[in-house]
Amino acid sequence: MRIAVIGSGSVGAGLARSWSGLGHSVVIGSRSPESERVIELVDLIGNGVSAAGLAESAVGADVIVLAVPWSAAEVSLASLGDLSGRILVDATNPFAGGLNLEIGHDDSGGEQVARWASGANVVKALNIVDARLLDGRNLDDREISIPICGDDRDAKRVVGGLIGELGFDVIDAGKLEISRLLEPLCLLMIKMSMKKSLGNEIGFRVLRD
Ligand SMILES: NC(=O)c1ccc[n+]([C@@H]2O[C@H](COP(=O)([O-])OP(=O)(O)OC[C@H]3O[C@@H](n4cnc5c(N)ncnc54)[C@H](OP(=O)(O)O)[C@@H]3O)[C@@H](O)[C@H]2O)c1
Repeated sequence: MRIAVIGSGSVGAGLARSWSGLGHSVVIGSRSPESERVIELVDLIGNGVSAAGLAESAVGADVIVLAVPWSAAEVSLASLGDLSGRILVDATNPFAGGLNLEIGHDDSGGEQVARWASGANVVKALNIVDARLLDGRNLDDREISIPICGDDRDAKRVVGGLIGELGFDVIDAGKLEISRLLEPLCLLMIKMSMKKSLGNEIGFRVLRD
């Protein structure tokens, strides 16, 4: 599958490394694809990963993943051009001024992304997993659970499949408005990660019988 990952930071690089390692064709969409940092990153990852400007990266992509700071989400999406009918994964968390959510309760970053990317099939996913764990490694001998949500069933199936390939336990949590619950969960994850007594790397797991 051809995947465009928008943002060359922790999440973008982690996803590019993991998906390309599985044989997917990954392009990193960057504001500065020709910068030394991005060229080095692409070389380091290998696996045929390339970097391109934002608009170019999205051309022909089956799935586009938004992995930029919340403050840059709107402008990044605008740079991608018309996203109608495209599958867009929103991995962002709508932080404003440190660990505070800018949107919540009766709205969410996921829903705002869907308004900005008018017509796109938005799937909220990957926002509660530490970027260092995007290689899909197990913790405590179990897969980490990744709830995803969105309004388009086919888009969720495609995105869920890609995340499952990474080695995660994917859970369809419902419609896009479930982002209102998934985004605060990220805060809980970060706060708990700061408790060194829990170890360096933690993840959520949904148990079922
Ligand atoms: N870090 C985590 O563990 C984690 C986990 C889950 C979700 N998230 C969410 O995923 C998103 C990306 O997180 P991250 O940790 O990958 O962030 P990051 O390391 O800071 O990287 C973000 C990337 O976004 C691009 N970008 C575009 N506009 C930007 C701007 N105005 N300022 C800074 N960077 C800009 C940059 O790539 P170019 O310079 O190449 O354009 C940058 O490398 C955030 O919304 C975050 O809340 C993070």
